[in-house]
Amino acid sequence: MKFFIDTASLNDIRTAQNLGVLDGVTTNPSLMAKEGITGQENVHAHYRAICEIVDGDVSAEVIATDYPGMLEEGLQLAALDSKIVVKVPMTEDGVRAIKYFSTHGIKTNCTLVFSAGQALLAAKAGATYVSPFVGRLDDISVDGLALIREIRTIYDNYAFSTQILAASVRHSAHILGCARIGADVMTGPLQAIYSLLKHPLTDSGLAQFLADHQRVAAQINN
Ligand code: G3P
Repeated sequence: MKFFIDTASLNDIRTAQNLGVLDGVTTNPSLMAKEGITGQENVHAHYRAICEIVDGDVSAEVIATDYPGMLEEGLQLAALDSKIVVKVPMTEDGVRAIKYFSTHGIKTNCTLVFSAGQALLAAKAGATYVSPFVGRLDDISVDGLALIREIRTIYDNYAFSTQILAASVRHSAHILGCARIGADVMTGPLQAIYSLLKHPLTDSGLAQFLADHQRVAAQINN
């Protein structure tokens, strides 16, 4: 399973990249706003900066909601770097835009997906990635991981090449659930990735190893 980081923070992206487990980045307009990035020039410069840090795909979301606007904005974003994936919302105009981009060799990520029907439509339109929002479904007491499982079954039935990018992933249980089901990618914030790292028995075990080593080393030196 590929690990993407869901942030526009260059510091967090660098930290995940330095850990050596990062396969790509996803952003959205809220995450860009959180970093104070506004205006086309600044937005484009920020995406270029992200592409310089990571080796894999970088999702850049269109702001336009109409078909011609999505095409114009998406083509500009795609021209920034070969790593750019144009992120398009699951709307009627969005599905049409995904179809256009897929037939013109431009990678897409269909976002704001909350049902298997929407995921099926995204795959039919030729999306490179589909982003079902696991955490936001859990927030409304709907099983987000069950949706990932349903999409996996449907895509496998017909060998769709669209990759399931489990989004709105919040913690280690989400990541492990996605891995068990066979999501192609998960995207989450830095703390979700780091939540996989820690175990109290690792810390106490390491402390014991070092203490034993130092005790014997001290005996030999005396
Ligand atoms: O980028 C889309 C998605 O990952 C957002 O996650 O935590 O805001 O629901 P969240």
